Amino acid sequence: MEIVIVPDAAAGGELIATAIADLLTGKPDALLGVATGSTPLPIYRALEAKVQAGTLDVSRARVCQLDEYVGLPDGHPESYREVLLREVLQPLGIPGERFIGPDGAAEDIAAAAIAYDRQLAEAGGVDLQLLGIGTDGHIGFNEPCSSLASRTRIKTLTEQTRVDNARFFDSLDEVPHHVLTQGIGTILEARHLVLLATGAAKAEAVAQTVEGPLSALVPASALQLHPHATVVVDEAAATHLK
Ligand code: F6R
Repeated sequence: MEIVIVPDAAAGGELIATAIADLLTGKPDALLGVATGSTPLPIYRALEAKVQAGTLDVSRARVCQLDEYVGLPDGHPESYREVLLREVLQPLGIPGERFIGPDGAAEDIAAAAIAYDRQLAEAGGVDLQLLGIGTDGHIGFNEPCSSLASRTRIKTLTEQTRVDNARFFDSLDEVPHHVLTQGIGTILEARHLVLLATGAAKAEAVAQTVEGPLSALVPASALQLHPHATVVVDEAAATHLK
């Protein structure tokens, strides 16, 4: 695992955007796995700046989703599909036809989960998967005690994660209880994992991910199993590293 400590979130965003630009130079139709939440936004803004400056060509890039709420109606502004259209696809000018994600509004959620894993495999697998990390060490929405071999499936959010995400909704009651998330086994199939963690609230989770034992209690520690995992942390998130 490669650990990179950067001064702040903007520097982390720039560094990772540059890595994505390098990937797309060598493989213009690379499949880029994207995450939601606050942490990756500096990456998306840095990518947008590169596209506007003409230094990044995304004309063949493909994008896939890490996770999705279950039960939000199609087009709900806080569904992760809508968030990613707003924050990534539209600013970069990537059309919806080159974007895949799990169907959280499906009637048969178990079948939708299996279908998404199949879709990822048929797309040739994820070239670079962006990840954030929860204060409890979750990646995607694989909460503590998730199987390290898990596939895309429905998961129940912990109360802490619902509270953390309530800032995106009008009230805690509106935050869904369930999600469809790529499993840890699914995530580990990406060719390169890039986790960004910023802010002091993530410091303990980062230390356990990087220096703690491999444990389902800290799902992000599964990155220790991956041959090409990069963890980018700002100084605040690095404070608990030895
Ligand atoms: C979101 C996701 C989550 C977030 C994590 C951190 O797609 O997969 O694992 O990355 O909850 O969220 P933020 O970045 O808002 O602190």
